[in-house]
Amino acid sequence: MGKILDTLNNTLLPVVASGKLLVFDHPMIQHKLTLMRDKNTGSKDFRTLLTEISLLMGYEVTRDFPLHDVNIETPICPMVGKQIDGKKVAIVPILRAGLGMVEGLLSLIPVAKIGHIGLYRNEETHEPVVYYCKLPADIQERKVVVTDPMLATGGSAVDAITMLKERGCKHIRMMCLVAAPEGIIRVHKAHPDVKIYVAAVDEKLNSDAYIVPGLGDAGDRIFGTK
Ligand code: PRP
Ligand code: URA
Repeated sequence: MGKILDTLNNTLLPVVASGKLLVFDHPMIQHKLTLMRDKNTGSKDFRTLLTEISLLMGYEVTRDFPLHDVNIETPICPMVGKQIDGKKVAIVPILRAGLGMVEGLLSLIPVAKIGHIGLYRNEETHEPVVYYCKLPADIQERKVVVTDPMLATGGSAVDAITMLKERGCKHIRMMCLVAAPEGIIRVHKAHPDVKIYVAAVDEKLNSDAYIVPGLGDAGDRIFGTK
């Protein structure tokens, strides 16, 4: 954590000090993220890399998931093992780009349920507009991992988390790939209980509210729509 404090923008120190921001400095993640940022990386590789990074991040995002005892038999003898109750987890991607992080998490928690929240940014105001929401019926009983590769102004993440809380969710964490300091601060102010996991904190937003240096439009790069 000391290393993170040294390298992050000063404005983020209160968020870091609260323990609600985790930045992944693992070499494997940084290497793969650099490949994703490269404008010459095509959709197929972009999707594969996003899945791989999501799996690696998922290892830490699930660190505090509770375990319960299970009785099993090894080839040698009976024993009491430990298991995560994956049935108590929901993954909620923010459409569209958040979908690209689901497969990696599902390979860790195959029985997790999946909800979808559809939001797009108004091109002029940059504020999010809701167009879809379908969640597991028992979402309020589950630990929720919200996924979206890009945390820019933070508007989409704040609204998605608000929608989940309005439906009774209490244990929410936010998993992103690249974040702008503005987005992290906005989410933390609106939802100080939510832990934010990111692979990189970039410098700033540009006048179109794109992350600089960022990786461009994540949805377009995943789905090849530009
Ligand atoms: C992108 C991204 C986030 C949002 C981040 O989605 O995937 O959801 O922008 O921006 P914010 O932090 O300023 O709200 P976009 O609206 O481009 O929709 P898409 O994923 O369907 O392309
Ligand atoms: N959405 C993206 O896909 N990229 C950004 O840089 C900002 C918002």
